[in-house]
Amino acid sequence: FCLLKKEKKRKPTKLDMEGALTARDRVGIQDFVLLDTHTSETAFLGNLKKRFSEDLIYTYIGTLLVSVNPYKELDIYSKKQMDIYMGVNFFELPPHIYALADNAYHTMMAEANNHFILISGESGAGKTEASKKILQYYAVSCPSTTLLDSVRDRMLVSNPVLEAFGNAKTLKNDNSSRFGKYMDIQFDIQGDAVGGHILSYLLEKSRVVHQNHGERNFHIFYQLVEGGEEDLLHQLGLESNCQHYSYLVQDECANVTSINDKNDWKTVRNALSVIDFDESDIQHLFGIIASVLHLGNVQFEADSKGYATLNKNTELRWVSTLLGINVQVLQEGLTYRKIEAKTDEVLSPFTVDHAIYARNALAKAIYGRTFTWLVNKINDSMENKEPSRKTVIGLLDIYGFEVFYVNSFEQFCINYCNEKLQQLFIQLTLKSEQEEYEAEGIGWEPVQFFNNKIICDLVEEKHRGIISVLDEECLRPGEATDFTFLEKLEEKMGSHPHFITHKLSDKKIRKTLDRGDFRLLHYAGEVTYGVVGFIDKNNDMLYRNIKYVSLLLWSIIHVYLTDKLQFKSSLLGLTDILMSKEPWYVRCLKSNESKQPGRFDDVLVRHQVKYLGLMEHLRVRRAGFAYRRRYELFLQRYKPLCPATWPHWRGVAAEGVEVLVQHLGYLPDEYKMGRTKIFIRHPRTLFATEDAFEVCKHKLASRIQAQYKGYRQKGEFRRQKEAATKIETCWRGVQARKEKERRQWAVKVIKKFIKGYMTRGEAKTTDNSEYLAFVRQNYLNRLKDNLPKTVLDKISWLTPPPVLTEASAILRQLHMRVMVTRYVRGITAQQKAQLQLKGITSVIFKDKKDSYPQSVSQPFVDTRISEQDINMKILQIIRHERIKYSVPVVKYDRNGFKPRPRQLILTQTAAYVVDEAKIKQKVQYTTLKGVSVSTLSDSIIIFHIASEDVKQKGDLVIQCDHLFEVLTKLSVVANKQSAINVVQGSISFQIQAGKEGIVDFSSGQESMVYKDKNGHLMVVRTKTAQTYKDLL
Ligand SMILES: Nc1ncnc2c1ncn2[C@@H]1O[C@H](COP(=O)(O)OP(=O)(O)O)[C@@H](O)[C@H]1O
Ligand SMILES: [Mg+2]
Repeated sequence: FCLLKKEKKRKPTKLDMEGALTARDRVGIQDFVLLDTHTSETAFLGNLKKRFSEDLIYTYIGTLLVSVNPYKELDIYSKKQMDIYMGVNFFELPPHIYALADNAYHTMMAEANNHFILISGESGAGKTEASKKILQYYAVSCPSTTLLDSVRDRMLVSNPVLEAFGNAKTLKNDNSSRFGKYMDIQFDIQGDAVGGHILSYLLEKSRVVHQNHGERNFHIFYQLVEGGEEDLLHQLGLESNCQHYSYLVQDECANVTSINDKNDWKTVRNALSVIDFDESDIQHLFGIIASVLHLGNVQFEADSKGYATLNKNTELRWVSTLLGINVQVLQEGLTYRKIEAKTDEVLSPFTVDHAIYARNALAKAIYGRTFTWLVNKINDSMENKEPSRKTVIGLLDIYGFEVFYVNSFEQFCINYCNEKLQQLFIQLTLKSEQEEYEAEGIGWEPVQFFNNKIICDLVEEKHRGIISVLDEECLRPGEATDFTFLEKLEEKMGSHPHFITHKLSDKKIRKTLDRGDFRLLHYAGEVTYGVVGFIDKNNDMLYRNIKYVSLLLWSIIHVYLTDKLQFKSSLLGLTDILMSKEPWYVRCLKSNESKQPGRFDDVLVRHQVKYLGLMEHLRVRRAGFAYRRRYELFLQRYKPLCPATWPHWRGVAAEGVEVLVQHLGYLPDEYKMGRTKIFIRHPRTLFATEDAFEVCKHKLASRIQAQYKGYRQKGEFRRQKEAATKIETCWRGVQARKEKERRQWAVKVIKKFIKGYMTRGEAKTTDNSEYLAFVRQNYLNRLKDNLPKTVLDKISWLTPPPVLTEASAILRQLHMRVMVTRYVRGITAQQKAQLQLKGITSVIFKDKKDSYPQSVSQPFVDTRISEQDINMKILQIIRHERIKYSVPVVKYDRNGFKPRPRQLILTQTAAYVVDEAKIKQKVQYTTLKGVSVSTLSDSIIIFHIASEDVKQKGDLVIQCDHLFEVLTKLSVVANKQSAINVVQGSISFQIQAGKEGIVDFSSGQESMVYKDKNGHLMVVRTKTAQTYKDLL
């Protein structure tokens, strides 16, 4: 834990003591020890005021912290601030209550001893706030385990409870603590806050029954009445109205704007459960508080003899019920005094005044004891029962010197206590100074300061001090009064320089004193006490307590310190021990009486500075040397001021400092060289050095800057290069990893592919399903790009893989159908007619005549001879028959087979063989018996004509290049399809009626037609044409 804290040391925000010297003009000096005119009160106040106007409420006197109440929220108590102050040395940061708390804590941890922080100041100066801030600091900054959190919670919430019962609104402070409080925080060896203990003293019980103008009773009464739940109030017999209770309405001040009783009630109720109060405790507690309110309303009346009687006693009943006391007993106690004679008791009745006094005394006693009980209860809940060793930090919230117009026994006790604390302070401070000088080997120089031992002795000396005289006077037989006590004092202390009475004083002073007064010259100033009540109060057990508490308090503090003194001689470093010897002081000052922010009332502050003994404190601090620093630190800071020490001093630091201060011209009287430190007597020497440093710093700064920039540049380049290399390496790594992943993936896929391939023939399994899917897709993709383009293309269908054989066949069919449909949709009427004709041709010739296949691709035309090429005469003759088709042909004479070129014209009714203007032969379709062609590839057509008439010409033998076209047209025009025959072998024909001719067909080298020796017509056709079909 300590290591952790050390790590946090050296913050960048650091503003050390020397650093702050620079800012002194604006914000003043943050440690009064460095005030050059340290004995000047005006300078002191000036510094305070300067800082206060900048909201710097904290200033040190060495390790003492002066705090000026700002009466406004300052942003200096955040968690962030706490962190800044954690583990940082006292002088490294601006003064703060956290710095003090932290240093106390760390010294405690380092030296394993006890500490205490003494917070003093007038009412409303901020003591309670300061102690809360310290507590919060420990709660937040100390390490903790969950187990300990509850202790911590209890410590924190015990505060509002104590404040509810022990605080009240006064003229000076709306939340004034009306009791003294000393709180121990216990830490275990790890530095965890593990327990706590509260010691309360001097509760202002009189407040329960009486409040001054503008003040209130303790908060709890208002909280209960205003905030209490209906049920609870009913049980307690209370009404929700403060006006009903005479203890609460004495000064019409039940409501104060800064106080919210209802909310506070809730806070208190919550807090009570946190600190282990069970329901019955709470019931009892509020029962008692209610009983006090009822008691306040108990009224007495005088009977005929003037004695007090109780008539209407509903209130008394409530008191009796709530406290569990018999009504009779209660009534008797309030109206009679019991006088014990030797053997029997006598009851003597009270007057009304006496009865009221008794009633109030009872109320005060009840409240006082309840408060004590409450504190004990809280202590139980915070108690740490572990036997392990613990150290404590004590927090003492104590009144400073109290100086009223009339000062009584209480003020006497308090002021005595303060006097005592000052004595301790002087002893310890001087002692530690002395020890430091000794340790550093510097001769001790006597210092001028006021030692208040003489006043302490005046009060406490055995048999001769004021307290002894008072005790004696109380015990002495005979009639002792306050005035006989005063006489005794005058007798015994008459010549004491710090003691004055009316009788003892000279004329001038006498005017300021009453006969019953005595005046003490405290170290902080003079205070006049009225002796009235001293004897009574000293006798009264309750008051006696006050005195003892004051003494007790002192002895507690003493124990702490002596405990520490014993530690002094142990092993730890000397400087650390010097710090640890000191109790820690916080001195709170009020900036003004009216609680206004930003107002600094010089007179008021001056008064407080005086009675808090701040000037005395400073004087003691400044007894010898104002400033001291270890050689290393001093040299480190100021070495630029001397060429011999800049930039490095290679030798011993002390020698370096000596050279340095010689160079600066320090006079021999201004400083001393100790063993490890340099001591500088006056702050002005230090300031001069600091100013020189400031000037020099600017010169150095530019040089250092230049060097630093160069260094930075270099560093930056190196950094970038390193970064680049690093990024490169990382990127390569990323890529390599990606590549590896890709390869692994590929191996897996390929493996699967191969396995799929090997099992592709088998039924679908997990192994091959993907492969098959791939094959399918692949085949379909390829197929898509390689479909046959025409219906005629029957060979280019892709061979399917085995899995797709079936699908492929279906697809093929489908595709064919699609192509056919597409083709059919695309053909024109003309094409259709053509096809119909071709269809007829096919029926007649397909597979019959050799030259047919060749003809298929030859489109038919409407005619081969246009009408212009037909002789006009012919046209005139046959026009009425409508010419359907004409074609050039070669006609073979029936006898000699002489070839003659002719036109063949087909009309609706007949076919004409025409030679120029002559119709050579007319064949009526009705007379056409048949038409024959060979099976070979020749183009000879024979028209068989029915004729019995020999004069008539016989059958017609022609050769036509467009054989299929002519015959198809003819079959359509003449409806002679069935009459057309494809004949195997020779064909016979009629030359004329009764005379037959023969046509023979063969294939040969050369195409020719001639009359053979046997008188037949020989038709030879080249083989090449014939073999065309075979080729296909
Ligand atoms: N450090 C502070 N910052 C802001 N206000 C403060 C501070 N200290 C005290 N106060 C104000 O002064 C009032 C009185 O302070 P308190 O600590 O109760 O005085 P004391 O205990 O000395 O009588 C507080 O209620 C608060 O309003
Ligand atoms: Mg207080």
